[in-house]
Amino acid sequence: FILNQTYRPSFHFQPSKNWMNDPNGPMRYKGLYHMFYQHNPKDAVFSDNGMVWGHSISRDLVNWFPLQHALTPSEPYDTNGCWSGSATIVHPKGKPVILYTGIDYMHRQNQNLAIPKNVSDPFLREWVKSPKNPVLAPSITNKINVDSFRDPTTAWLGHDNLWRIVVGSKEGDKGVALLFLSKDFVQWVQAKHHLHSAETTGMWECPDFFPILINGTFGLDTSINGPYVRHVLKISLYDASHDYYLIGTYDTTKDIFVPDKGFEHNELSLVPRYDYGKFYASKTFYDGAKKRRVLWGWINESSVREDDIKKGWAGIQAIPRTLWLHKSGKQLVQWPIVEIEKLRTNPINLHSKILKRGTLLEVSGVTAAQADVEISFEVNEFGKAQVLDPSWKMDPQLLCSGIGTKVKGGLGPFGLLVLASKSMQEYTAVSFTIFRSNKNYMVLMCSDQIRSSLNLKNDLTTYGAFVDVDPVHEELSLRSLIDHSVVESFGGQGKACMTARVYPTLAINDEAYLHAFNNGTVDVKITRLNAWSMKKAKIN
Ligand code: FRU
Repeated sequence: FILNQTYRPSFHFQPSKNWMNDPNGPMRYKGLYHMFYQHNPKDAVFSDNGMVWGHSISRDLVNWFPLQHALTPSEPYDTNGCWSGSATIVHPKGKPVILYTGIDYMHRQNQNLAIPKNVSDPFLREWVKSPKNPVLAPSITNKINVDSFRDPTTAWLGHDNLWRIVVGSKEGDKGVALLFLSKDFVQWVQAKHHLHSAETTGMWECPDFFPILINGTFGLDTSINGPYVRHVLKISLYDASHDYYLIGTYDTTKDIFVPDKGFEHNELSLVPRYDYGKFYASKTFYDGAKKRRVLWGWINESSVREDDIKKGWAGIQAIPRTLWLHKSGKQLVQWPIVEIEKLRTNPINLHSKILKRGTLLEVSGVTAAQADVEISFEVNEFGKAQVLDPSWKMDPQLLCSGIGTKVKGGLGPFGLLVLASKSMQEYTAVSFTIFRSNKNYMVLMCSDQIRSSLNLKNDLTTYGAFVDVDPVHEELSLRSLIDHSVVESFGGQGKACMTARVYPTLAINDEAYLHAFNNGTVDVKITRLNAWSMKKAKIN
């Protein structure tokens, strides 16, 4: 019971108990946000024969009200589970449909259609499975792998008035995005080619495919295309357990996705990720009310299975993030939805404060276990930056684990010590270190969990990524959302995101402290620090 209470987040989405994984079918309909999710209603661990679609609704993406399960195993084609899928608002009448993966009586994977029982119910409480299900199934003719055929995307409409979806799969160890076309969501024809594929990447789970504006932060409806649009293909790599994205062109004549230069890498470590910590099986939707594209992602536990069972729940969703294309066109930018800011209370502000080398600065007056913190740094003595050994460049995560050992002194690490215990037996360090590489500077961002808990059974892996900011001319900023057992950090105004799960044994509730720190050999300036205590959201 104590375990249950201690690590429960207070403003991250989760069911009232038991296991949750992927976000499913997010949408906005009749003024309400809908959130469905992979859920094992019976246990705090995943089940391979009883997954359901949990369902909650919200007016603001912050407070959530639970409804009855939207989909539960009931038919031969989904008797072993209702797995991930997506919702599409079908034009012109604006009616929602769901496509999801069913695990059939022989444990084969197939795709199924469900529609609302009553479209005038804004809650969309009851869903009816199509009598034509499964609408897509592996067969001798299509040679689709029965164990690797899942997670249909939101559909988009082509100029030929046919709807298209992608379903994740693999052929040998080649990851593929299978493309299907339909006029009515019931009868689907497979395209002769894949929307995209990549050798040796293994199973592609939870694909997501959507347009994004070249210039600006506005989101676009999923069927939009044109000269001002790029496309994003996101895939969740089962083997790597990470969400990777590619930016490119959707060639509508060939019906293929062509990655931009720089995104056709065969080297996975060079492909950008939504998040360099724990964040998986994510999915976006277009929010027409605020004209934005919103990203949901599942954050798994870093604790051991026995502890999950003891605390009676596992899995949370990241704070939804607005997502857009950076003006460079080379990467995406993500930022927590603005609505989360209404939970902020009791602001603490600080300006122009020198953070001397080797010092700590306590940020008091906030509830450090439940907080939102923004901090910006200015660095001057660039001459003191350590030179980046070219062999380190490829692996920022390894570099972050080496900080303090291999990497001695220089510009950083400086940043935030979050969920720290009174005498520093426990803390999580979110930091920047600036390196010189040829004539440029490179900013390494780390989230270091190695001292996050005295309970060493937890996964204490350190996370790292380079943030594409020029520290000479640009402000170096960090935001961390701290919620008891989760720390979601955004470097460079959302250019690099890093989410960690941590389970302090001392730094809990009122016993948690927050500090800014500078472990480098050079003083840095905190240009601005804003911290807020966060109120509890009403969640399920
Ligand atoms: C991703 C995933 C999906 C699948 C679902 C089952 O985490 O494995 O591929 O549909 O979870 O819960």
